Amino acid sequence: MACRWRRKTPDAPLRPSDGPPRAAFQIAPMTHPAPARRLYIKTYGCQMNVYDSERMADVLRPLGYAVTDRPEGADLVVLNTCHIREKATEKVYSELGQIKRMKARKQADGGTMTIAVAGCVAQAEGAEIMARPPAVALVVGPQAYHKLPELIARAHRASGQRLAADFTADEKFDALPSGRAPGGVSAFLTVQEGCDKFCAFCVVPYTRGAEYSRPIEAVLAEAELLAAQGVREVTLLGQNVNAYAGEGGLAGLIRRLALVPGIDRIRYTTSHPRDMDAALIAAHGEVEALMPYLHLPVQAGSDRVLRAMNRAHTAADYLRLIEQIRAARPDIALSGDFIVGFPGESEADFEETLQLVAETRYASAFSFKYSRRPGTPAAAMSGQVPDAVKEARLARLQALLGEQQAAFNRACVGRALPVLFEKPGRHPGQVVGRSPYLQAVHIEAAESLVGEIRAVEILDSGRGSLSGALSPSPRLEPA
Ligand code: SAH
Ligand code: SF4
Ligand code: F3S
Repeated sequence: MACRWRRKTPDAPLRPSDGPPRAAFQIAPMTHPAPARRLYIKTYGCQMNVYDSERMADVLRPLGYAVTDRPEGADLVVLNTCHIREKATEKVYSELGQIKRMKARKQADGGTMTIAVAGCVAQAEGAEIMARPPAVALVVGPQAYHKLPELIARAHRASGQRLAADFTADEKFDALPSGRAPGGVSAFLTVQEGCDKFCAFCVVPYTRGAEYSRPIEAVLAEAELLAAQGVREVTLLGQNVNAYAGEGGLAGLIRRLALVPGIDRIRYTTSHPRDMDAALIAAHGEVEALMPYLHLPVQAGSDRVLRAMNRAHTAADYLRLIEQIRAARPDIALSGDFIVGFPGESEADFEETLQLVAETRYASAFSFKYSRRPGTPAAAMSGQVPDAVKEARLARLQALLGEQQAAFNRACVGRALPVLFEKPGRHPGQVVGRSPYLQAVHIEAAESLVGEIRAVEILDSGRGSLSGALSPSPRLEPA
């Protein structure tokens, strides 16, 4: 297999973010034969970027580029960037500084290195990046990856336009090669891109453009291809994946995918409460392959803040949804995203967020300090909250969410859960897989288990993962 995905940190949450776990997604290197050209891709941000990095490797493979896991000496370095919070963007510029120094060293030895900036920072700040000293050869926005070979050729000739940052999602998917080299047993599959929601804090509608859904047939064809390569679990991706507008909506797509031979597990992320329709909720109760895990961000628990955020739902709407989802699938593991310190958020507003968390009981969640993003409506709002206040609120929220996660994991001890084994563990003799609830599960067993779904007796739990032993009996709980 030419190239495969692996998660460097076994416990890394499968979530959009810009902290350590997100940069943990990397393409594993090709070990043989000796590559003609070495390609290093560094991925920041959400799973959609992980998927896009894989597709960039696919589009460049026919040109003789093989993936390497080290930037030193690479012929082509692609930084696939994230713009969601200030810290994410800063990280890109500091990495760019290091890569530029590597390029200079390579040039001093008589070699060359082409540096490309892709992803959401490329889309948002492409012109600024290109205006800096000419170490960056090209900038390519998320909808233009199919143009990479042409852009690279142009950059090599050092002529013509080097900036491709336009919004044509349909062109992108049509033009990307149908061959994929996923490796591994779990794969991402982008079905929807872009966002029309315009939450007041968020850059995504500007970096990823308008909502676009891939046709169901194209998605099914890609899933069949993945299954033929040994993939057993697909995670459907979209900035607003449950706004999927292909035939039958997301629920229809899930039902069709569940019929694809070899695809045993289906997940999807990320969803918006407004698009959580009755058909999708029903699917959670009826489609066996649809895993009992749902990431449904709410952001805040105060209606005043939710209104200012332009979320177009109230806290009560959200809690009602959770009730309906739990009625359809009582054991579902719920996850969410929270922002603390949105402009104007008072102590009382924040208490309402804690209240909503207490009522919902999350299995895992992601929480962030509000980050002021240039060009978004919230950046210009009055009542910006001091950093020390945001810090204190974040600590309180994370303490509560941490307790809930630990409690959810503890409740799994003593159960037999079906685990899809994905890779060897960090320690020799260990294999790691995922429970239906997306928890990492470690057991001592032979590596040959990778790719299998087996019942595991859960013996212990930590905040981020479970451990256990293969179940002696074939008893397997549903899920
Ligand atoms: N479309 C998805 C994902 C958006 S980005 C959704 O609606 O959930 C992932 C998360 O980053 C968001 O849910 C939000 O919690 C957080 N986020 C986005 N913009 C942010 C900002 N300016 N400051 C802090 N967190 C932000
Ligand atoms: Fe951003 Fe809101 Fe769209 Fe999610 S729904 S991507 S938070 S604008
Ligand atoms: Fe970041 Fe763009 Fe994803 S801003 S979170 S990489 S959509």
